[in-house]
Amino acid sequence: MNNNLPVSIIIFGASGDLTQRKLLPSLFNLYRKGRMPKQFRIVGYGNTAFTDDQFRTHLEEGVKQFASFKYTDEEWKAFASNLAYLQGRYTDLADFKKLGSFLKGWEVNSGNRLYYMATPPGVFPNIIDLLGLTDQLAEYNGWRRVVIEKPFGTDFESAHSLNEQIHKALNEKQIYRIDHYLGKETVQNILVTRFANTIFEPLWNRNYIDHVEITVAEQVGVEHRARFYDQVGVLRDMFQNHLLQLVSLVGMEPPVSFDATALRNEKVKVLSAIHPVKEEDVPRKTVRAQYKGYREEEGVDPQSTTATYGAVRLQIDNWRWQGVPFYLRSGKRLKEKLTQITIEFKEPPHLLFPTKDGRLTPNMLILYLQPDEGVHWRFEAKVPDTVAEMRSVDMEFHYADSFGKTAIPEAYERLLVDALIGDASLFTRADEVETAWGLIDPILQVWESEKQPLAFYDPDSWGPSEADELLARDGRKWSTWDARKE
Ligand code: BG6
Repeated sequence: MNNNLPVSIIIFGASGDLTQRKLLPSLFNLYRKGRMPKQFRIVGYGNTAFTDDQFRTHLEEGVKQFASFKYTDEEWKAFASNLAYLQGRYTDLADFKKLGSFLKGWEVNSGNRLYYMATPPGVFPNIIDLLGLTDQLAEYNGWRRVVIEKPFGTDFESAHSLNEQIHKALNEKQIYRIDHYLGKETVQNILVTRFANTIFEPLWNRNYIDHVEITVAEQVGVEHRARFYDQVGVLRDMFQNHLLQLVSLVGMEPPVSFDATALRNEKVKVLSAIHPVKEEDVPRKTVRAQYKGYREEEGVDPQSTTATYGAVRLQIDNWRWQGVPFYLRSGKRLKEKLTQITIEFKEPPHLLFPTKDGRLTPNMLILYLQPDEGVHWRFEAKVPDTVAEMRSVDMEFHYADSFGKTAIPEAYERLLVDALIGDASLFTRADEVETAWGLIDPILQVWESEKQPLAFYDPDSWGPSEADELLARDGRKWSTWDARKE
């Protein structure tokens, strides 16, 4: 495929939040860094009546409010000259024909096109149908790629039929399903930590690891997305995608190469090895909870039983991980925003030094994904001037110290560049998304049939006590040890 042709980036849902907060600031920053194609144009498509100039002003407001970088007026003007807007409906053939002629007018004979579905999920299959019907997906005069935002389906069945439907108009190589966690530097660093070092991989298995904890805690509540969130809940919003992606990166075998097929094959393999939680085990292996006050939020059903917090115990059935539980938890309105993966190692097999309770504190490797990005190693050291008293100490790496405070780009920058160059490694393949739903479905079914009681937790806490009991049943505790505060 010729990557040197002019590129049109068509954003459906261009007047929405995602475009203003994330997509446009990321595209602008890529432009400032010289990473956009030589010739490109960004065409916004949506219901709102905007002129080109109004669209540009609306987007610049977003850049001012949401971008973390500084820019000059000249930079914005030069970038904004590539922006255009077309008002249209998502269900109207005539509007799509208009879009087709509009794009052709600029491309002259040939051009590449990236279609970005930043619309509500119900709309995009229709858009893809109409693009197909108006001959805008065939690749005879340039590549055609489609980026699809989450959520991809609401359960296994719907994700599967969505895949079938879009495969009628597109082949899998043209489809880029986004999970923005994969665009995060620290998430990609999981693979570098594991596979670009020799010191970790020999320990990365059931012989040395006791268990793995993955925490994705958010301080914010449901805010302006309450109406949407109330239909979705934490399992669909966070577990099916972000948390299971983290599990797959921590749990996968080394891929034979760093390309999309090899990488995604390994991810699917490890997801397929996860033991689906059986219906009768759901109450024992999961926690379903809601923060107090959620039902009073605007847009939320006053009797809502939607979970805003979840904790799940998973087991990977393979040689590497047999007997090593993965504990996952995520929730809104928790004490702080914190995303971390804790690898807790086994205790040494023989206790040489005296301790109060005859136990040693286990070593931990903590991958801090956000906000203070870095990696910490916790190990035991001798307290000076004692016979053999020990204390846990911490060896730390912080991105900000090693690479500078502004080193970490917005996740969307990386994903947009990858879609433009045709690298699908950080996007979710059809079988991956379906396998993930297959793991979430049995839990969802029990949760939604109300067979499992809903727990409640205080805002600004670390979640319900039921989540502590989940680990206590295995004789464990969540690792509350926070290296940043020692
Ligand atoms: C989104 C969820 O996918 O991820 C949101 O829909 C959540 O509910 C967000 O707040 C969290 O992303 P991040 O990058 O802030 O961890």
